[in-house]
Amino acid sequence: MILILFGPPGAGKGTQAKLLATAANLRHVSTGDLLRAARASSAPVGIEADRYMSSGRLVPDYVVNRLVADALDDEGYQGVLFDGYPRTLEQAEWLLADLSDHGAGVTAVVSLRVPEEDIVSRLSGRRTDSATGAIYHMHFKPPPPDVPAERLVHRDDDRPEAIRKRLEVYRDETAPLEAYFRENARLIEVDGVGEVDDVASRVGEAVAVLRGTAGV
Ligand code: AP5
Repeated sequence: MILILFGPPGAGKGTQAKLLATAANLRHVSTGDLLRAARASSAPVGIEADRYMSSGRLVPDYVVNRLVADALDDEGYQGVLFDGYPRTLEQAEWLLADLSDHGAGVTAVVSLRVPEEDIVSRLSGRRTDSATGAIYHMHFKPPPPDVPAERLVHRDDDRPEAIRKRLEVYRDETAPLEAYFRENARLIEVDGVGEVDDVASRVGEAVAVLRGTAGV
């Protein structure tokens, strides 16, 4: 099974991907996480990506596709959950062609629907545990009291001007991909509003149906 978790910044892709990857035994491939790891280790690709990420713009397609190619080459073409990838038509076309070259294909694209007003409050309150990668929200999903405050990172692209830019980029470059997915893959829309566990149940039900109908 190869799934794509699709949606605007702050829709809850990372939160749901971690839960779904565990529940459905899929490998979680987040291009945001791969880029942040490259940046933290000062790898050349991370240095190149930094100026795009901190201003909320998309990192060039050839950089991101290369990271994904490496991840797939290293760990195989089955049982993958993409989070935040693909985000442009060029990335989507590259991925589908690469999967096809390896005898694989996208089982479905799960699109999380969340209105823009929820997104801004979700992103402004987000904190990430630098030690475990766990995603919290200061109001909706507060970190447990035993997590030291200095471990809780406020991402530099969660500042208001970067959030505005990311939403603009999403509207212009990524949202139009839904039409491409509708034509070239199976697109499943899931309501992303509500408690994290309720959203996870909806996503889980959609994947269970897929497993039943697609035999995967
Ligand atoms: P990336 O890290 O992928 O960021 P994003 O897509 O903008 O998504 P986010 O991580 O901001 O949000 P999310 O949907 O994962 O939500 P989360 O679960 O954290 O990419 C960062 C940057 O890297 C990009 O801007 C770009 O520069 C670059 N990049 C990455 N991929 C790229 C690509 N393919 N091509 C080019 N460039 C690329 O949740 C958000 C908050 O909401 C959290 O606080 C969470 O606790 C809370 N929350 C989650 N669910 C709920 C709920 N149901 N109710 C209330 N709060 C909730």
